[in-house]
Amino acid sequence: MPQASDLKRLADDAVKEIAAAADDAALEAARVRYLSRKDGLVTAATHAIGSLPNAEKPAYGQAINEAKRRIEESLASRASELATGRIEKSLGEADDLTLPPRRVRLGRLHPISRTIREITRVLATMGFEAVEGPEVEFDYYNFEALNIPRDHPARDKFNTLWIGNPKGDDPAKPVLLRTHTSPMQIRIMEQRKPPVRVVVPGRCYRFEATDATHESIFFQYEGLAIDEQLSMADLKGVLYSFARQLFGGDRKVRFRPDYFPFTEPSAEIAFDCFVCDGAGTTNAGRCPTCAGSGWIEAAGCGMVHPEALRRVGYDPARHQGFAFGGGVERLAMLLTGTPDIRLFHENDLRYLESV
Ligand code: DAH
Repeated sequence: MPQASDLKRLADDAVKEIAAAADDAALEAARVRYLSRKDGLVTAATHAIGSLPNAEKPAYGQAINEAKRRIEESLASRASELATGRIEKSLGEADDLTLPPRRVRLGRLHPISRTIREITRVLATMGFEAVEGPEVEFDYYNFEALNIPRDHPARDKFNTLWIGNPKGDDPAKPVLLRTHTSPMQIRIMEQRKPPVRVVVPGRCYRFEATDATHESIFFQYEGLAIDEQLSMADLKGVLYSFARQLFGGDRKVRFRPDYFPFTEPSAEIAFDCFVCDGAGTTNAGRCPTCAGSGWIEAAGCGMVHPEALRRVGYDPARHQGFAFGGGVERLAMLLTGTPDIRLFHENDLRYLESV
């Protein structure tokens, strides 16, 4: 015959077991063992009530309720103990505040970006507006409109990377990665009426073996000025001022005739080599930076060819202009004292952070 005292013992066992539960899983197992509606021990004891004489039922019923209350209470209190323990443990595992912090790396502009900003800043003082153009270009702008038709020998020196025409391979309109920024001369003149004064910095591409002064991906800047009565003297004045503002009075400037199909006359501007100071040799032999010439070519330039002016609808009798274009890396090498162009694109932060 079940008795109220059995239930007290059952509850005593349960309370002990619950107090000893090491984690949530053990606690849940104890709850199921005693209180599960289906086959918990307390539930089983409840079913037994039916076999008792009526007189004993109330006392037994009370004993059941009391057992349930005690078990539920100890389940709740053990659950809260376990939770507190978890929090305390995680607090003990908190970061060691005495550890020195990781160094915060400050970002900085790449020397090429700094040089482009410097170029456009200096030219802005002379009224040149900075604009940009497409790197994927039509043969027409890169060559044809610049007086370099399909079989012109000047094409050889550009080592062009051709690409499929993304708009459907119209064979009459070949597409390439621009080999220089000069195509923007034509695009700008097509869009604007004189006076024009722009500088175009941007990435260019050539299928080229790399060495200390050549990369297959590189940057150029292109200057263009169109107005009435512009002459070679204006070009020279702008470029000398440009060189002096960038490099101070120290660097020597060399200005001498050259040939480009889209300028007439054409010239080339160079600065004396900062590595060998123009000597062409260093202690180690031939200077690798200027290839022994003592000079670093900074830009090609000249008066815009009348044919190019006519092509965009300008009247060469009324408007003339000059253009110049050169490698940004060359100038960045001079400005940062970098002896090898590849150092700019290898992305070795130890070098990039040092210049
Ligand atoms: N685009 C030429 C090159 O990459 C350089 C150049 C020559 C640019 C003469 C000019 C210019 O604007 O007038 O070799």
